[in-house]
Amino acid sequence: ENQVAFLTEIPKCEHHLHIEGTLEPKLLFQLAEKNSITFPQGFPTTHEELAESYNHFSNLQDFLDVYYIGCNVLISEEDFYLLTLEYLTKVSKQGLKHTEIFFDPQSHTARGLTIDLVFNGIQRACDEILAKKGITTKIIMCLLRHCTIEDCSETIDLAEHLIKEGKIHGLGLDSSEKPFPPELFEQIYLKAKALNPKLRLTAHAGEEGDSSYITTALDKLNVERIDHGVRSIEDPKVIARLAKNKIMLSVCPLSNVVLRVVKNVSELPIRKFLDANVPFSINSDDPAYFGGYILDNYLEVQRRFNLSKKDWAIIATNAILGSWCDEERKTELL
Ligand code: ADE
Ligand code: ZN
Repeated sequence: ENQVAFLTEIPKCEHHLHIEGTLEPKLLFQLAEKNSITFPQGFPTTHEELAESYNHFSNLQDFLDVYYIGCNVLISEEDFYLLTLEYLTKVSKQGLKHTEIFFDPQSHTARGLTIDLVFNGIQRACDEILAKKGITTKIIMCLLRHCTIEDCSETIDLAEHLIKEGKIHGLGLDSSEKPFPPELFEQIYLKAKALNPKLRLTAHAGEEGDSSYITTALDKLNVERIDHGVRSIEDPKVIARLAKNKIMLSVCPLSNVVLRVVKNVSELPIRKFLDANVPFSINSDDPAYFGGYILDNYLEVQRRFNLSKKDWAIIATNAILGSWCDEERKTELL
């Protein structure tokens, strides 16, 4: 209907999208077959069965256990290219104008792939979609917080040339949140930033971790943005800080439901963020696992909050302003 058309046409920017999380069950099994990858005992054997299992995650770790198994089917540069192109093609029909793509180098280097192979596959799809559809992209590498500091440090070394050349545009932090608070990664963030002062910084915080994780991500890692951050609502001081310093939260509504951060999207502090002038964008996180891409997330927010056109204009504008594209592109989108 009318609202679907309106929400489809809003120019969208995505800031929280794990490329490995766009691996649809069908492609997962196709690549497993092609690359002769076998799964652990008890892993679903059909794509239908696998997709059904996604309805039963009870928390973030539950999901991550499956997600890391999925990553193992990605082997060649072409695999990463196809994965990324499939995602970009899909969202090109959903009003997406700019997207910042996370990848997890450690999930792949641990299996003997090179960071260049992974990066080149993703970048080739990005170049193609820019030429065909005019969609702009930035690539952000994320460190896995369950890995050792030594491993994270080595990963920065492996990415050194890509960071120095600005091909990797930003650094993020993901995986199991609660046992691994942001401050553990202070030296790693300093080391990465020293390679290129233009490197942008973000981190997952306040998804399962409480609002203190948001504060330490800001204070110790000097991040400019917070991924998720929904638990900021538990501390008015944190909310005031986000609003005052215009720190954008990359909120992922459907993810938060599937991973049981909230029971349904109406429990998210969307209205409260708007009222408190906390900038946020709406994102899909791991769309192949969480039941929808960016437009589905917009639609679910609208279904639960019935926002006005004025509210949506604020959301769209904040998503553009919070993007890490160049200023010219921002002006074009505004
Ligand atoms: N890796 C992929 N998706 C993630 C999420 N939502 N939180 C933490 N790590 C992730
Ligand atoms: Zn995420």
